[in-house]
Amino acid sequence: MLWNDRRGRFSPLRAGTLAALLTPFLYLVYLTVSGGLMAAAVANPVEGLGPRPVNEAIHFVGLWSIRFLVATLAVTPLRRMARYAKLVDVRRMIGVACFLYIALHFTLYIVDQSYDLAKVASEIVLRIYLTIGFVAWLGLFALALTSNDYMTRKLGGVRWRKLHQLTYVITTLAVIHYFMQSKLNVFEPTVLGGIFAWMMLYRIAHWTLPRSFLREDGELPLWFLGALAIATAFLVMLFESFGLDLSLGVDPWLILSANFTFDAGIRPGWYVLMFGAAIFLVALVRLRPAPRAA
Ligand code: HEM
Repeated sequence: MLWNDRRGRFSPLRAGTLAALLTPFLYLVYLTVSGGLMAAAVANPVEGLGPRPVNEAIHFVGLWSIRFLVATLAVTPLRRMARYAKLVDVRRMIGVACFLYIALHFTLYIVDQSYDLAKVASEIVLRIYLTIGFVAWLGLFALALTSNDYMTRKLGGVRWRKLHQLTYVITTLAVIHYFMQSKLNVFEPTVLGGIFAWMMLYRIAHWTLPRSFLREDGELPLWFLGALAIATAFLVMLFESFGLDLSLGVDPWLILSANFTFDAGIRPGWYVLMFGAAIFLVALVRLRPAPRAA
């Protein structure tokens, strides 16, 4: 049973994760049934998925897939900060769910193209955001195929880990795909991209900083985690300001200052700061005081 741990005992963590992963899908089913995927949604767009239900469903599952993808990358820092090794237990589950949602994303795209596979192939070749999405899709497929005990044993730990580092490239491509198709409203891609940037900077710091810089328990110092949260949020604010300047010609200083006047609501950088601050707080509570060296 998916909700049991390896010893066959009921695991509230696994059961809760499974419920969280299933909820968007069940909500999509509800929207489809309540509005009718095709006809009824047109008659009652508020109840259903809107006037273009299949396209709405593509967006819906794409969005949840990328959220789950980013969530898989949050497992390692959270597990370390929270000193909660059991979290690893649900990483594979989230990864597989991410693939199932993205498989549905692609399937719905084929449905939206009236099952014309030649058209699907030519669109993927001709539209760069689809080409990028497709490469990410293939990567996720490879990871899903190797996310079982048999393949883990067959590949061996080192090769398996190396292969699964592809996740970083795949997420980069997925975020680019998300940005490119978003056109004007890049709010959530910016938030997700910022959180992804935090997670990569955290990993790069772990990989590259000398052992002497780390705490005795091998973790990054708390002050560094605080600084990382603020620096990433500020980078996101700069990225948003200059990105919108490049694409829309809006004065970058206007957007940057809107981050602090809140004239345009809470901007993405603040959400990224909240994420970094939440991890910092977890670390503050769970990692202090630094254990003494043996
Ligand atoms: C076979 C590969 C893929 C195809 C053909 C594809 C196709 C599409 C299409 C047609 C859209 C809607 C564009 C529009 O309405 O203008 C879309 C949006 C999106 N796709 Fe993909 N995609 C693919 C792979 C991926 C992957 C691998 C991810 C991430 C894991 C992803 C995440 C998204 C997201 C987040 C959106 C936007 C959702 C929103 O608007 O909220 N896609 N994709």
